[in-house]
Amino acid sequence: MKADLFIHSATQLCVVPHHDGGPQRGRRLGDLGIIEDGALACADGRVVAVGRTETLRADWWAPVEIDASERVVCPGFVDPHTHVVWAGDRADEFVQRIGGATYQEIMASGGGIMSTVRTTRAAPLAQLVAESRPRLERMLAHGTTTVEVKSGYGLGTTSELKMLQAIAALDATLPLTIVPTFLGAHAVPTEFAHDPAGYVDLVVEEMLPAAADSGIPRFCDIFCDVGAFTLEQSRRVLTAARALGMIPKIHADEFESLGGTALAVELGAISADHLVRTTATEIELLGHADTVAVALPATPFGLGHRDYTPASDILAAGGILALATDCNPGTAWCESMPFVIALACRTMHLTPAQALVAATLNSAYAVGLGEEVGSLEVDRAADVIILDLPDVNHLGYRFGANPVQRVIKGGRIIL
Ligand code: NIG
Ligand code: FE
Repeated sequence: MKADLFIHSATQLCVVPHHDGGPQRGRRLGDLGIIEDGALACADGRVVAVGRTETLRADWWAPVEIDASERVVCPGFVDPHTHVVWAGDRADEFVQRIGGATYQEIMASGGGIMSTVRTTRAAPLAQLVAESRPRLERMLAHGTTTVEVKSGYGLGTTSELKMLQAIAALDATLPLTIVPTFLGAHAVPTEFAHDPAGYVDLVVEEMLPAAADSGIPRFCDIFCDVGAFTLEQSRRVLTAARALGMIPKIHADEFESLGGTALAVELGAISADHLVRTTATEIELLGHADTVAVALPATPFGLGHRDYTPASDILAAGGILALATDCNPGTAWCESMPFVIALACRTMHLTPAQALVAATLNSAYAVGLGEEVGSLEVDRAADVIILDLPDVNHLGYRFGANPVQRVIKGGRIIL
């Protein structure tokens, strides 16, 4: 039979199988379904066959072949939490933090998210797109083939819509799949500093309906934490979003625990993200929920903090664990999922195999695409990366250089 593309002779081909038709839960995380001397045939953008090279050769041929000998082949990374669309930078705050200022002190004095809000509001749409594009291109070069991108640096109806348009424009012109999320409740903007409730009213009454009308965002997120939004405000915003057809997500327990994770489970949120300060009771809840726990180790690393998401506890409870970069100009300007994997292995004690599943199949579930991407089973999207590594344990073991040699998106060779 004829395929479009045939990848063969991989030292290890990681299929990353579904478990019971879903993600890999709890301690069963880390099943790569490795095929040695592996091959993969793609046609019409999808995986049509996967197996050992000699077996597949008997049945398939393709006009384009890639020899993956001495390489690892796996699904493209799915990065399920980023703020990669913004204008400007905050290198000055990074230097202040080195000098001892905390993220929250900088935020309270009008810097932090508000600093990026000012530059993003001032940037015309074309500039916002132009500044964000190279970051997404570098993500692609580091193996990310699907990426979630949040709004949240506009914090006003017009500027939030501009961010959503930038996200849509980037999705239309880059080979990655971009999943848009509305994050109008990322911070209380300065002009509402004395009336946070008034800002929540604006989000619910004006911004959310406008975001829904744009037809762009699939998800709605909120930053539920000290210095951002309370639990009750989060409940109100996410409930209103759900009524408009957006699926809830939440930034919870990054700095303090306000009950955001329990709220996520109660509302059937697709994911709860950060989870550094999550209580034992809420970890138990995650163990029985379909809400994906998204860990963002580049964030504590970027802030120079010591505490990370308690991955072992989440896995012991039976939860679904995923990894993301959180790429943003404040806490973690990180475009590399391989670096996030290296961090997760060291700080969260994941094995490279567990981290790889958390960065592919499980992270696909965190953006509602678990049936589509994140696995190389037959019929899934042919989003494939080839790593210049002798075996999968070298992913995580090595860090700082890019191990990704080839990137194939929807069966098309991109890099
Ligand atoms: O996920 N926590 C809130 N949002 C980002 C930081 C955004 C910023 O500082 O610009 C985060 O860490
Ligand atoms: Fe974030």
